[in-house]
Amino acid sequence: MKIEFREGPVERIETPLLAVVSFEGNPASSGTVEQLPAGTRKMLEELQTSGELTGKALECTLIHHPPGLAASRLLVIGAGKREKFQLPHLARLPGTAVRQARSRGIHEVSWLTHARLRTPETVQQAVEGAIMADYDADKYRTEKNAARRVDSLALLAGETPFTEAEKAAVERGRIIAEAANFTRDLVNEPSNLMTPTILADHAVAMAKQFGLESTVLGPEEIRSLKMNTFWAVAQGSHEPPRLIVVRYMPREAPAAPVVGLIGKGITFDTGGISIKPSQNMEEMKTDMAGGATMLGVMRAIAQLKPRVRVIAVVPATENMPGGQAYKPGDVITSMSGKTVEILNTDAEGRLVLADALHYAKLQGATALIDAATLTGAVTIALGNITTGVFGYNKEWVNRVLASAAAVGERMWELPVDDDYRELYKSSIADIANTGGRYGGAITGAMFVGEFAGDTPWVHLDIAGTRWNYEDKPYLAKGPSGHGVRTLVHLLMNLNK
Ligand code: BES
Ligand code: MN
Ligand code: ZN
Repeated sequence: MKIEFREGPVERIETPLLAVVSFEGNPASSGTVEQLPAGTRKMLEELQTSGELTGKALECTLIHHPPGLAASRLLVIGAGKREKFQLPHLARLPGTAVRQARSRGIHEVSWLTHARLRTPETVQQAVEGAIMADYDADKYRTEKNAARRVDSLALLAGETPFTEAEKAAVERGRIIAEAANFTRDLVNEPSNLMTPTILADHAVAMAKQFGLESTVLGPEEIRSLKMNTFWAVAQGSHEPPRLIVVRYMPREAPAAPVVGLIGKGITFDTGGISIKPSQNMEEMKTDMAGGATMLGVMRAIAQLKPRVRVIAVVPATENMPGGQAYKPGDVITSMSGKTVEILNTDAEGRLVLADALHYAKLQGATALIDAATLTGAVTIALGNITTGVFGYNKEWVNRVLASAAAVGERMWELPVDDDYRELYKSSIADIANTGGRYGGAITGAMFVGEFAGDTPWVHLDIAGTRWNYEDKPYLAKGPSGHGVRTLVHLLMNLNK
């Protein structure tokens, strides 16, 4: 999507679709509607009186040949009650405009910005919302929605020209939203077309395109490094595993912290010998969403260039049953030396993460964040709306939560505490790989945390948020890219 800046009086803007915003209560005289000429305003007042225009959140009112405007159509989008409006959710409004345009085969959207309330942050939000809205998971349909893409977004300045800071914010928004869409593309691929090898190839190609260093380790190296819990999961599959490492190490950044971003990369999770029911098993093609999230974050920071060192580690494998598969009761010595009794081969994510976290520390990471579709239990707790956040280091947890709040991605802290440890104790090894049904998201997180040791660590359980199960007015059904914007925001602000 091309993004343009247009200045000059709004009534003279020629465009197939001019999108404006109004608030509930006085939709004909609030939001950016205020900037429209009297003729159109009068028409909107009539619609308000008749009850057709209310300004309720994401209400869409389309008017052809709006009086006094050069635009051929006017789209009024409701922003809900002014007191309830959350700035981080601003992105949903231009997002809605873009999806309305797509559904009508309109390729160009003009977005009227708020001449008085505009800031670099709001402009960035608007661009992110528009680009993420212009995405459909339809790669494998022969009749694609691609023909319905919005090719260009014109940002209208209204009465105040755009500042340089606002123009820079547009570029940041574009980079971040395109990175999130890259993550969504990876997550959307079926497992026959997104094997560990193919995921690694995508990571290497991305690294090359944006000037990052990358290394990929295969089965021999994984075994000789004694990444035994990673290998245990991988050994059941004919697809060779890959340990994907991508580095962003700007020389001008301080030596510490080195942030380790570890992403679960299970390209398909059958459950292994503790096999899953076939109902909805196809969803397990998305079990590499954590890894895809971290690769998206790397793609963005390679272009945004924050002053911070970052290393991404993605352990990629399938989890399959088979003659070589690991089995319940097996005891595995992880790379860190901690021994693990396998009680359920479907709790595989924590096993691949265990060795990947340890590896990240050996590679110099001094602060860790992992993202993983780790547990069904987190979706019971928080639904598909909110990511579960876990960690012992309050400051590090709070940084993640603050960034999530700033970008409008819902994240919520769940507890980790020694009192839960006995749930995953083993009668034969140091720890067991499951802690039972109750508190499953917590014991899963704490298992991963065992391998962070004293290093500050945050775990994001994105099992629920990785996917939108329904079309939203501003976002297509399918992979969500949730988490990318939060982590990019965090890294951009870490050494500021
Ligand atoms: N990949 C799944 C978790 C998952 C469930 C992700 C639903 C997305 C949607 C994970 O590997 C898993 O199977 N977890 C088990 C853990 C249990 C065996 C302790 C679970 O949640 O049932
Ligand atoms: Mn599993
Ligand atoms: Zn899994």
